[in-house]
Amino acid sequence: MSEAASYGATVKTKVPPVTVPRLRELKARGEKIAMLTAYDYTFARAIDAAGVDMVLVGDSLGMVVQGGRSTLGVTVAHIAYHTEAVARGLDRALLVADLPLLSYATFERALDASLTVLRAGAAMVKLEGAGPMLNVITELAARDVPVCGHLGLTPQSMHKLGGFRLQGREAAAAEQLLRDAERVAQAGADLLVLECVPSELALQITQAIKIPTIGIGAGVHCDGQVLVLHDALGLAGKGRRPRFVKDFMAGQDSIRGALVEYVRAVKAGEFPGPEHAY
Ligand code: KIV
Repeated sequence: MSEAASYGATVKTKVPPVTVPRLRELKARGEKIAMLTAYDYTFARAIDAAGVDMVLVGDSLGMVVQGGRSTLGVTVAHIAYHTEAVARGLDRALLVADLPLLSYATFERALDASLTVLRAGAAMVKLEGAGPMLNVITELAARDVPVCGHLGLTPQSMHKLGGFRLQGREAAAAEQLLRDAERVAQAGADLLVLECVPSELALQITQAIKIPTIGIGAGVHCDGQVLVLHDALGLAGKGRRPRFVKDFMAGQDSIRGALVEYVRAVKAGEFPGPEHAY
């Protein structure tokens, strides 16, 4: 029985926790990684029990928990507060905490922010971008801080990007994203989130680097998938639902059923379908 299937059962069986080295093994074995965001203890427990491999305390909390229009208002203290709560709910899933806007603009700031969220219970920190961030990734990795990069649509850069939109569409932009992904991996990151990029480009990146890629709006070829919990449960906020979102409550009669179905669909390579990709 697979790990996910055993967690889908009513009685929890003892399954070893997901570790950072295990992520590369999953990529090497071609086993898809299922990841969701969480912000509190109760949902963290439910997500963990459903067999999700990784949980992200994302700065998306600025939108889905705090009701803001962007992620820009989130602070390290907010992330640490939610990370502590989520950490208490996890037995198996690996916990990643987002470093919010400019909290990693210098290496010293990144080290402080990482210390705060690692002490709160995270096993990995996530930061957006390449360029000057490559040095920050190198320095964190040299101190054994596991790092997840985040490229493509980087919501903390929404003003520069002109909003939340597909990235890497033009040939030059795609080439730049591929180079950036290679540099992020070379700098010592352990994982890379690709948000809103064409699936062909995500495939190229996934094949080019040794660390796992986790897609959100990046097609089925990534090594794993992540969704914002509220989106996966059909609670997307006001306005247009992004193409990459699927409501996993549809056809289910419980949140537990929706979470188990999310894990199953990701592991089976059924989500995202072509209708969720660019
Ligand atoms: O903040 C967040 O939830 C994220 C995911 C969308 C990847 O960065």
